[in-house]
Amino acid sequence: MSICFNEATDVFQLDAGQSSYVMKLVGGYLMHLYYGKRLDGRDHSYMLRLAPRGSFSPNPDPQNPIWSLDAAPLEYPSYGTSDLRSPAYHVQFADGSTASELKFVSHRIVDGKPRLEGLPQVYCESGGEAQSLEIVLRDEYRPLEVILTYTAFDAMNAIVRSSKIVNKGNDPIRIKKASSASVDYVSGRYEEIHLQGSWARERHIERAPLTHGIKMIESRRGHSSHDLNPFFALVSPETTEDFGDAYGYSLIYSGNFKGSMGLDQYGSTRAMIGISDFDFEWLLAPGEAFQTPEAVLVYSNEGLGGMSRTYHRLYRTRLCRGVWRDKRRPVLVNNWEATYFDFNEDKLVELAKQAKELGIEMLVMDDGWFGQRNDDRCSLGDWFVNRGKLPGGLEGLAARVKEQGLKFGIWFEPEMISRNSRLFEQHPDWCVHVKNRRQSEGRSQLVLDMSRKDVCDYILETLTGILKSAPIDYVKWDFNRSLTEMGSALLPPERQREFAHRFVLGTYSVMEALTSRFPEVLFEGCSGGGGRFDPGILYYMPQIWTSDDTDAVERLKIQYGTSLAYPFSTMGAHVAAVPNHQCGRVTAISTRGHAAMTGAFGYELDLGKLSEEEKTQVRQQVAQYHQWERLISQGDLYRLQDPFKGNTAAWMFVSSDKKEALVFYYQVLSVPNPEMPELKLKGLDEKAVYTASDGGTYSGAQLMGFGLHVPYMPYDFSSYVWHLKA
Ligand code: GLA
Repeated sequence: MSICFNEATDVFQLDAGQSSYVMKLVGGYLMHLYYGKRLDGRDHSYMLRLAPRGSFSPNPDPQNPIWSLDAAPLEYPSYGTSDLRSPAYHVQFADGSTASELKFVSHRIVDGKPRLEGLPQVYCESGGEAQSLEIVLRDEYRPLEVILTYTAFDAMNAIVRSSKIVNKGNDPIRIKKASSASVDYVSGRYEEIHLQGSWARERHIERAPLTHGIKMIESRRGHSSHDLNPFFALVSPETTEDFGDAYGYSLIYSGNFKGSMGLDQYGSTRAMIGISDFDFEWLLAPGEAFQTPEAVLVYSNEGLGGMSRTYHRLYRTRLCRGVWRDKRRPVLVNNWEATYFDFNEDKLVELAKQAKELGIEMLVMDDGWFGQRNDDRCSLGDWFVNRGKLPGGLEGLAARVKEQGLKFGIWFEPEMISRNSRLFEQHPDWCVHVKNRRQSEGRSQLVLDMSRKDVCDYILETLTGILKSAPIDYVKWDFNRSLTEMGSALLPPERQREFAHRFVLGTYSVMEALTSRFPEVLFEGCSGGGGRFDPGILYYMPQIWTSDDTDAVERLKIQYGTSLAYPFSTMGAHVAAVPNHQCGRVTAISTRGHAAMTGAFGYELDLGKLSEEEKTQVRQQVAQYHQWERLISQGDLYRLQDPFKGNTAAWMFVSSDKKEALVFYYQVLSVPNPEMPELKLKGLDEKAVYTASDGGTYSGAQLMGFGLHVPYMPYDFSSYVWHLKA
């Protein structure tokens, strides 16, 4: 049993893998007692210590002045009734008042995990994998109910939380904030880690101590964004990659989000994650409920590495879905950096021929095949084939690509519309806009109003038509700008602030319907590279184009940072041409191969321009990838050297039986007359004896205690790989 309620002590205990999460009812309030390393089943009530805090932390109960909500660890804190820190939710009732507080009503424990409607979510494959707890809380003075849901996975250190706000009265309630999860840590000092970046430089790791006040990560861009990712971790100051407490917070959501961490005046830390409350409001009619997205909390006492491995397993096996979840993905060649918009059927068929000779398995036709699209200033929304470029249409091209023995994939960008398009001529009000206000453009394009059902229906039917029109095996689903002037022509004024969330719900509804209609198609998410690299998208698409930066050296940081919360199997990664199109760097094809191979692997360059020697290397890379893919996509990841801290990066994958491992080592700049470093490995079986591809035989103890000799690499941007077998 992973969840228990002890009626004698009023304590809830959730055990998830090696972690426990404990709450207690006190005077009707749901208090948080503990989150951390797994506990036994004793009574943990002593953990709650309430102390009088003076008149500036007021008391909810005048008869009981020794404690205040302001100093209590609360499970879903409210606003205005003596807790004056950040609330988890904030509502306005029909009389204009905003004070609220929640008291316990009931609870229920069920096997498995209840489904959420219309939102991406973690799932169970059998009831025995997890248990879920629903706790109903109610405001005693107003008709408001909040249902907190927790799922504890039996064999993974993961607790999934969400909340539902229900209007039980006869008047509407305005929701101004609705977090998915909030956790109060009564003591201890923490540092926070988050992933920050920009276009072509996504998900770099930042770490800083928390001080008093509130640290916030947020997106107001309408998508999860290149800037900040919906993930953060709280760690102890001494936590490293391998040791110490790490608490991960990840939100299964692709729109505006907010993570906040605050150290209060009494030394407690409150961590919270959910939809952003900035410019958000939701009018909850009588009887209606508002469901928040899910937050996935992971605890590890094996440092950041342990935390990441739990996210990887959970997201790879219980968030990603469909036939491609566990299958090896085809090695692809994408024509974007090979041709940009300048292609036609013959050019693509030629690329397919060359790809086939090198062992590549799929041709992906990127942007530019529809409408009048010869540059990025027009035609989004006009999803009909440009016969000038593709005289045989998608069907004709697909047939010719398949004749070469390759699979065939295409690109589209469903949520977008060009001002210069037939669709815009026909439906100028279908774009996201505010009436009588200038419309900002990004990459010369506007965004379709996905909060409208008619727009979603149109997009769904159009995409369905495309996917039915030809044997298409793969889709790259792009999203190339942030939202501005957010509003919808159909929403009444009092609901305009619902737009950002409704946009995401509409998008999800189309993703759900299309991926269900075409279960065999492999979908890859994309947003100018990694502008929507989030768990929400992974529910619909098992891989995402990680970054438009295809430079092998830049990718070390991007992929290392991304791996904090996401498995390598979800990271689209391609070998591109040199000088690299984003940063001009020239790297060896072997290094580019080694960097891309630790992801969903492919090529994105004019294969015809490769030298014979490079072609030989490509053939070898593809063959090697086939041999190693299982280990890379399903093995446990151990990060060995951090590219943010030095001149090298290294990571390794270990099979679950520890009998096989793959170690990738990358050197940025070469150093003359260098030190002779060893690379200490992790995660192996101490007692096993491993034969390595460098010709050596080593025990697991030697490899983890002393390490492998790193060869002298007298070139910038070089790499080396070891394959170990017990
Ligand atoms: C985005 C993607 C690229 C490519 C272009 C096409 O930038 O990230 O990979 O598909 O769009 O316009």
